[in-house]
Amino acid sequence: MNANIIGTGSYLPKKILTNYDLEKMVDTSNEWIVTRTGIKERRIAADDEYTSDMGVEAAKKAIKDAEIGYEEIDFIMTATLTPDYIFPSTSCIIQKKIKAYQAAAVDIQAACSGYIYALSLAKALVEQKVYKNILIIASEKLSSIVDYKDRSTCVLFGDGAAAAVVGLKNKGYEIKGVSLGADGRESDLLILPGGGCRYVPSHETIDRRLHYVKMAGNEVFKHAIRKMEFASKDCLKKVGLQEEDIDWLIPHQANERIIMAIAKRFKNLPLDKVYKSVIEKYGNTSASSVGIALDELDKEGRVKNGENILFTVFGAGFTWGAAIITKRG
Ligand code: ACO
Repeated sequence: MNANIIGTGSYLPKKILTNYDLEKMVDTSNEWIVTRTGIKERRIAADDEYTSDMGVEAAKKAIKDAEIGYEEIDFIMTATLTPDYIFPSTSCIIQKKIKAYQAAAVDIQAACSGYIYALSLAKALVEQKVYKNILIIASEKLSSIVDYKDRSTCVLFGDGAAAAVVGLKNKGYEIKGVSLGADGRESDLLILPGGGCRYVPSHETIDRRLHYVKMAGNEVFKHAIRKMEFASKDCLKKVGLQEEDIDWLIPHQANERIIMAIAKRFKNLPLDKVYKSVIEKYGNTSASSVGIALDELDKEGRVKNGENILFTVFGAGFTWGAAIITKRG
């Protein structure tokens, strides 16, 4: 029996950073950002609002949506590249805040692919009956690692969180299959060099701005399209579905041009079934992006029973993945 996503939730901080605000911070323009990325605005967490806080807000909504008690959660997995601390894990902080003391807790680091990596692990553990209800969270305070002096990256990223409960309860979305991949040979193209054991924090690492995201955007762009197409088709094959069976496409929300390039690689997929409003409203929220998209699409009530949703994601590492879920009747 396949595991289901039995509840979803998301959370976005209140503060909005518009393209016009960014025009005052770096040499950019609303026109460049909208044409090159599709982003109109993004959310920024308050100074005292952390990845765990946003994760908790999304988690509470997902647990309510799943109609289960906090005490029924037996595992918490948080996908993030902006944890509150290097250790303890953000999952442990969240566990404390929601008082789910019976749950095991671990963080997952697969950059923007984290939500689908977590979904894959949760599906396997639930189906093997190792755990019953797994809370997966993706939460990112990317504003804490973005260099607001670097116009090539600071216009892209925003903060936000998403959560889902994976279990066997008969509701929500059946997780038909997941496909994952990685290629460490390209790890330098998208990296946060400082803060680990290689570049421990020092005056020098701060002067060299090594505690901020570095990205070779153009190169990453090409890899992202290729790998998300590959993962999608691999996942379709795995679950025995055809391209025509896909009703909704939710690609990682990194750039509208990437989203549209992937959409074009699918036969007969109407463009209004390609979800891209998250990139427009919130920018690239890394691991959280597809989870926020699923929650918003679900709450809009547009997915009909029996319809198939294909997720496809790509992130630093490189990592990538795809998943197919079906709305239950
Ligand atoms: N405003 C104005 N001009 C800019 C800006 C800006 N904000 N940023 C860059 N430019 C300029 C560049 O300097 C360059 O100028 P030049 O031609 O004079 O040298 C020109 O615009 C074109 O730059 P490119 O980098 O070629 O622009 P591109 O069209 O590739 O868009 C972008 C850049 C948006 C970063 C794109 O490459 C992209 O989306 N890359 C992929 C991002 C992604 O998928 N990330 C993966 C997940 S993220 C994660 O895992 C954390």
